Amino acid sequence: MTASSSYGKLTNQGASTNIAWHQASVDRAARAEQRGHRSAILWFTGLSGAGKSTLANAVNQALFERGLTTYVLDGDNIRHGLCKDLGFSDADREENIRRIGEVSKLFLDSGAIVLTAFVSPFRADRDKARNLVNEGDFIEIFCAADLNVCEQRDTKGLYAKARAGEIKEFTGISSPYEAPETPELSVDTGAADLANCVDQVVNELISRQIIPAQH
Ligand code: ADX
Repeated sequence: MTASSSYGKLTNQGASTNIAWHQASVDRAARAEQRGHRSAILWFTGLSGAGKSTLANAVNQALFERGLTTYVLDGDNIRHGLCKDLGFSDADREENIRRIGEVSKLFLDSGAIVLTAFVSPFRADRDKARNLVNEGDFIEIFCAADLNVCEQRDTKGLYAKARAGEIKEFTGISSPYEAPETPELSVDTGAADLANCVDQVVNELISRQIIPAQH
């Protein structure tokens, strides 16, 4: 479980009163009709180094080549901008994932297939993102490379630093990772090759009728 977020407490009192929802005349269904595919959130979760960004980018490339409207939100990139004020405490991760959930919901409405690549270690936070949208719009994809594999890869050298105590609250070492219990798809990014993992994701989207078999 995440600690209750301390983020935004200062502004809560006067925040978001006297606002209404403006209904747009071009809606999600119209966009899906025009583009020839549904929108969806592909939520990649897993340890640092599990291959979330690599897989999300490769799937994005495959979908783009089919002419589909897509966008990748990647943890390392988003933390340079939208979430650059956040660190890695439980509360900051919760706020990080809350923002990404909300942004993903906007992309969903825009008609895009949005691929998010965040550790998103806490089940409750992922479930909150899931519950922002309708059943079937949120496809949780567990990148299941285990800690040994990720630590051996150590592509960014962060595990070595975490083991040396130079990075605190590092997922898998000094901060927990709660694997999904019933993800829509679990991909063995520790063993399967990338093309095979991409095929699994694309086939999942076809079988869910999010994208057509041939486009
Ligand atoms: S999340 O937990 O809030 O979802 P996010 O995916 O945005 O994390 O960022 C994780 C990335 O930040 C990792 O891939 C890694 O490169 C880097 N990072 C730096 N410090 C940490 C840490 N303490 N725990 C996990 N990842 C970290």
